[in-house]
Amino acid sequence: MQKHSSPKHTWKLPSLESRASFTGADAEVVALFQDAGKKAAAIKGSYSGLVDRLRKSEAFVARTGSVQFVRFGGHGDAESVLFVGFGQAEELTEEKARQAAGNVWAKLCVEKSRQAVVDVDSLRGARGIKSGLTHLRLARVFAEGLVLGAYSFEKYKKTQETYHGPESLVFVSRDKGLVQKIAKELEQVSAAAEAVNITRDWSNEPSNEGTPEYFADQAKKYAQAQGLKCTVLTEAEAAREKMGLFLAVGQGSTREGRVVVLEYTPKGVKNPKTICFVGKGVTFDSGGISIKPSLRMEDMKHDMTGAATLFGATLLASKWKVSNRIVTILAFTENMPSGDAIQPGNVVTARNGKTVEIINTDAEGRLVLADVLDYAHQFKPDAIVDAATLTGAVSVALGKHCCAILGNDDALVEELRAAGNANHERIWQLPLFDEYFDDLKSDYADMKNSANDGNGGTIRGAIFLKQFIKPGVKWAHLDIAATAYGLTHLSYYPKKGASGAYVRTLAQFAADF
Ligand code: BES
Ligand code: MN
Ligand code: ZN
Repeated sequence: MQKHSSPKHTWKLPSLESRASFTGADAEVVALFQDAGKKAAAIKGSYSGLVDRLRKSEAFVARTGSVQFVRFGGHGDAESVLFVGFGQAEELTEEKARQAAGNVWAKLCVEKSRQAVVDVDSLRGARGIKSGLTHLRLARVFAEGLVLGAYSFEKYKKTQETYHGPESLVFVSRDKGLVQKIAKELEQVSAAAEAVNITRDWSNEPSNEGTPEYFADQAKKYAQAQGLKCTVLTEAEAAREKMGLFLAVGQGSTREGRVVVLEYTPKGVKNPKTICFVGKGVTFDSGGISIKPSLRMEDMKHDMTGAATLFGATLLASKWKVSNRIVTILAFTENMPSGDAIQPGNVVTARNGKTVEIINTDAEGRLVLADVLDYAHQFKPDAIVDAATLTGAVSVALGKHCCAILGNDDALVEELRAAGNANHERIWQLPLFDEYFDDLKSDYADMKNSANDGNGGTIRGAIFLKQFIKPGVKWAHLDIAATAYGLTHLSYYPKKGASGAYVRTLAQFAADF
């Protein structure tokens, strides 16, 4: 008997299509540039009078990301036109186009559009005011900005919204050679949005339902649908694997932990490289005996977002059919105080044989990851990349506009940064000098899990993890504690809850590595 229901979503993604022409939409999206004057009006003959009037009245000056909706029956191709400002042509960037598209999606939703068309030819501008970006790239990032906003978590609302935005978005270009190419990009964008939304669903799941067992179960179901190999270790099996640190974290909880191992093997590739993804999946982090203050403790249901992100990235990479092998290890457990919980001062033995003195039971993420990082080595990885909501200190250091990366190989760090930049999911490197380990030296064990003060918290977390990476193995750690949820400054990310950030970046890394 199945204990948990099969994957079910409360969001609905619009279908994305590419065509040379289309009639029957209720809204047409047209980009306008700020410095265009009469030339812009020439872009779209049917709207030129309207554009002239808007500009003259200064009702719409096409500032980047601004939107102007005009409804009229029977005029032009659509019942209404949604002008989107693209600012000064030479200042347009991919991210500005994504942000603008996020605003367009929000406006289409307000106006209850069901079927919209995007005038691809308008995205780059006309003669003399062309931006340096190609139509193809602009179509791609504009599509990303549109669909990444198509998310809401309504699983536990008794009255669910019935309208979830346009059901269909058609990208129209008169350049017939471009239509096929755009279609391919749109397919990739659809797959990305789906993976990102699955990550968001996991991260937003409350921990009474989102237990380690639940995520292991969901992982199996998605993996089966996608043709990925998926094995799950129970706590008994983790004990046989001597995962003493992983088990120590969960020993105060009545819910059993799970280690999920997913494998994607590319077809028809001889000797593919292997990437190991390792994710922190603490389904609720109360802090344990070193209990957290109650203010915003509810956010600690998101403490499995590292695992959720790498799960989404693995799904996406397999949909994209990347040519590297991916082994993804997700460590799910719950950090709770109880009569059985680990206590400060306890000494526990890791899978690799090293002993750890627990100073703070709230520094649990590094304990969970240590054993699965060690476990990852058996897959002979060419690179190990872990993702974790590891430290509050990363918010202090970097805020919400990037995540932190620390690692032992600069080329690997650079590859991840490049993938991040391409998706505007930026990654910033912090140092990992060996001297930082001095703060983690213990009087009673090989190391302790936290220091006496909070200085350099993100680096200390990473230098702890480094003790479990064998010499010569390339490894990078992403601390996503600040970016996992509440990215309110991005128009195409939800205003509440999980962001889904870094799914696209990690999938792209898996493709390019
Ligand atoms: N899960 C937290 C980190 C966190 C904080 C994630 C805020 C998201 C938002 C982690 O397990 C933790 O509690 N870290 C401690 C480490 C400290 C005790 C050394 C922290 O950052 O305070
Ligand atoms: Mn903690
Ligand atoms: Zn935690």
